[in-house]
Amino acid sequence: MAQRCTVPVVRERKVARGGDPLVMLTAYDAPGARMVDQAGADMILVGDSVAMVVLGYDDTLQVTVEDIAHHTAAVARTHPSALVIADMPWMSYHVSTADTVKNAATLIRAGAQAVKLEGGRRRIPMIEALVSAEIPVMGHIGLTPQSMNAMGGYRVQGRDAEAALGLVDAAKALAHAGCFSIVLEGVPAPVATMVTEAVEVSTIGIGAGPDCDGQVLVFHDVLGLEQRIMPKFVRRYADLFDLGVAALTEFAGDVRSGEFPEPAECYRLDDGAADALGLYGAA
Ligand code: KIV
Repeated sequence: MAQRCTVPVVRERKVARGGDPLVMLTAYDAPGARMVDQAGADMILVGDSVAMVVLGYDDTLQVTVEDIAHHTAAVARTHPSALVIADMPWMSYHVSTADTVKNAATLIRAGAQAVKLEGGRRRIPMIEALVSAEIPVMGHIGLTPQSMNAMGGYRVQGRDAEAALGLVDAAKALAHAGCFSIVLEGVPAPVATMVTEAVEVSTIGIGAGPDCDGQVLVFHDVLGLEQRIMPKFVRRYADLFDLGVAALTEFAGDVRSGEFPEPAECYRLDDGAADALGLYGAA
């Protein structure tokens, strides 16, 4: 069994200090978590992307704390070696620090070892409250999908000098408030490099170039289970949707042609039961 990954291990793992890049993947259920863990990922993120890739919503704003807790529990029941991080849904950490701690505690009790939340300086009071309740926090800045309405869509962030420096400043503030790691999403690669050099904690990139301390992708995107048009940072390593449709089509054909089930796929009666039942020729 692989060694368990912990929050302190992730916090310290900086590539510039000689560490191997961190690997994070999303998973939302037990089979997915087992696959990700057996693939050797360091972290499993029960992302609010569950809204789009599993629950069929158009954006991530629809999921609730109960939804994430339900999926986190399924992942945690597999007892992975990877660190389990639960995403805090929109509006679960925006109203008050008390609400934030209560909602995060629900996710920890469901089996998460840390939570992730989106946003910069405005989230500092919430992050500090979580850290003082002993709940480890992963930050998430840049393109933050829960802000899609405020941002006017899913837009790359930090393209001009002022915005780039704003991200560096936000990352420093999050690290100072106690975040053990920071996701950088949808930012130009040189900005991710600047942020990664500016903070002592690990950075995890998605659409943020090669210089982060780790990379994260969504399970369904990596495996080709999604048919939507992918952002350019997604690399697809399999086409499981097409493979799945082909297998299911074969099953449907076998049922319709009578080729499924065959005798080896059927249960037998006890010896003598066929005669007793008057089923001549049956076994
Ligand atoms: O919800 C999610 O999957 C995420 C990652 C893409 C970082 O937040």
